[in-house]
This record gives sequence, structure tokens and C-alpha cells, in this order.
Amino acid sequence: MKINAKTKIVGLFGYPIHHSFSPIFHNAAFAGLELDFIYLPFSVKPADLKEAVQAIKSLNITGINVTIPHKEKILPYLDEISPEAKMIKAVNTVHNKKGKLIGYNTDGEGFIQSLRKEGKFNPEGKSVFMVGAGGAAYAISFALIRAGVKKFTFTNRIFDFERARVLFKHLKNTFKDRCELSLIDFDKRNSRQILGKVDLFVNATSVGMHSSDDQLLIDLDFFSPDVFIYDVVYNRKTNLLREAEERKLSSLGGLEMLLYQGALSFEIWTHRKAPIETMREALKQGGVG
Ligand SMILES: NC(=O)c1ccc[n+]([C@@H]2O[C@H](COP(=O)([O-])OP(=O)(O)OC[C@H]3O[C@@H](n4cnc5c(N)ncnc54)[C@H](OP(=O)(O)O)[C@@H]3O)[C@@H](O)[C@H]2O)c1
Repeated sequence: MKINAKTKIVGLFGYPIHHSFSPIFHNAAFAGLELDFIYLPFSVKPADLKEAVQAIKSLNITGINVTIPHKEKILPYLDEISPEAKMIKAVNTVHNKKGKLIGYNTDGEGFIQSLRKEGKFNPEGKSVFMVGAGGAAYAISFALIRAGVKKFTFTNRIFDFERARVLFKHLKNTFKDRCELSLIDFDKRNSRQILGKVDLFVNATSVGMHSSDDQLLIDLDFFSPDVFIYDVVYNRKTNLLREAEERKLSSLGGLEMLLYQGALSFEIWTHRKAPIETMREALKQGGVG
């Protein structure tokens, strides 16, 4: 990588960010296409977010990915927000377009593209069951309903069930009767009546990120053999994915969503098609996946 006076800067705002895989695959993609870009990690503390966003303009940074804990907090500091990001009230990508900061959210579309292209699963007309009501769950539920799922059921662990109710209301208000929507009690999730007809199961919780907290949130015995299992956790192979593979169920891990959301950010900044294979290979070389 040769940096010169014209090199365009993109990067990541988050806190903490030392665990991020994004610099690995974005820099590999720039090198692969011989683009004069560099991707840098910026550790931005919550109290410094406003100044950091102003610096995107003053330092003429081309684009930024945004991660925890800034995805929602960044919205008031941007000049324009895409319809997807407005809907879920979270931004993961900023583009500095001639001094105007435009916020996007590529998480949901990244999930859908990975599901279609890598999982060969078309969500249209399907029945989905999801666990989770955090940031990933917001992005995924909106994207799946926009992609045409017929039935969408979800739950969240009992002690923060209020979070799930807020998501339910938000989905209902946005999509009205476009999809059959249900929120069920966490304790009632493991039943053949609920899971037997599900085409796609999504773990949109952080369970499985650490080997010390990798319990199975769902009993795979209740699904049909045709179910597709998607786990958004991307830093390790979870027990859910291991169990799905042992049972020969179709499945995908969060690394694919990570790659595709990154590819969409890459395309917003560079206007070039992202080299997914180069990006995936860079992760492998870096010991990821
Ligand atoms: N692959 C990708 O590209 C991608 C993108 C974004 C996020 N992710 C991953 O998605 C996961 C969730 O991220 P997030 O941003 O949505 O986090 P978040 O906003 O903090 O939400 C975490 C979710 O996990 C649930 N949860 C946590 N511990 C649990 C437990 N022991 N049992 C049951 N549920 C539990 C939470 O339930 P409560 O509401 O009850 O706390 C909540 O629904 C993380 O692993 C993250 O790395 C992946």
C-alpha cells in the first residue's frame, strides 16, 4: 500500500474497536482493485462523537463505518439519512459527498444479500423466526419484511421484553398488514407448533460471541429438516452453527453478513463493485473464519 498526497481516507468510528475485522478486508479490497484508498480504525469515545463527525468534513475523510456505541447517536450530526437508516434509526456507513454527510445502513441489506447469494435462500413468501431485539435484530427484521417474508415471529429474553415490544410496535406501524407479525413469550419459543413451519431461523442476539456464553437458545429438534439457520455472530463458530451442521441443516454464520454489509459500504464510497472473494480471502489469511 503506497500512500500519497491523493490517497482517500475511510475508516471506522467505534469504542472499543480493537476487535474489528473491517480494516483487514477493506484494505485488501482496495489493494485488489488498486484503488488509492486506505481504511483506518478511529477509536472515538462517546463524549467525542460530535467533534469526530465534524472532523470527517474538516479532514476531508471520504467515508466512515460506524459501530457500537455510535450507530444511533450519530444521526443528529449528519446532513442526510437514507430511507433504510431512517426506518431503523441507526447508521453504519457515512459518505462525505462534496462536504455533505450522508448516513446509510447496510446491515439489513448485507444480511439479505448474504442469504440470497451465499445461502441460496430467497426470503420472499417465507416464514421466519428470530431471537433478539437489539441493533442487529432491528436491521434484519426490517430488511426481511421489505424483502417480502410472509410471516415474521420473534422473541427476546424475558427480562428485557419491553425492548421487543418497542420493536414490534415499530414494525407494525411501518409495515401495517404487509406481513403476518407476532411477538411471543421467550418461554414459549421451543414448541413444534411455533417452530415446525419455520423456513428461516435467525439468532440476532450476541449469544455465542464468547465460548463461556454459548448456550443454544433454540431446540433444533422442533424445526423441519428444510429449515435454514442463520447466526449473526461472526467472531467464532457458535454451538448453534455446529449443531445445525451436525444435523445437515442449511446454515450461514455472521461473517457473511459482515462481508456483505462491508461490500455495500465499499460500493457507496468507491462506486466500484466490491471484490467479495478478495475480502473473504483476506479474513482467512488473517486467521478469521
Ligand atoms: N454479522 C454482522 O455483520 C453483524 C452486524 C451487527 C451485529 N452483529 C452481531 O449481532 C450480535 C448482536 O448485536 P447487537 O448490535 O444487536 O447487540 P445489542 O443491541 O446489544 O443486542 C443484543 C441482543 O442479544 C440479546 N442477548 C444478550 N445476551 C443474551 C442472553 N444471554 N440470552 C438471550 N438473549 C441475549 C439481547 O437481549 P436483551 O434485550 O434482553 O438484552 C439483545 O436482544 C452481536 O454478536 C454482534 O456482533 C453482527
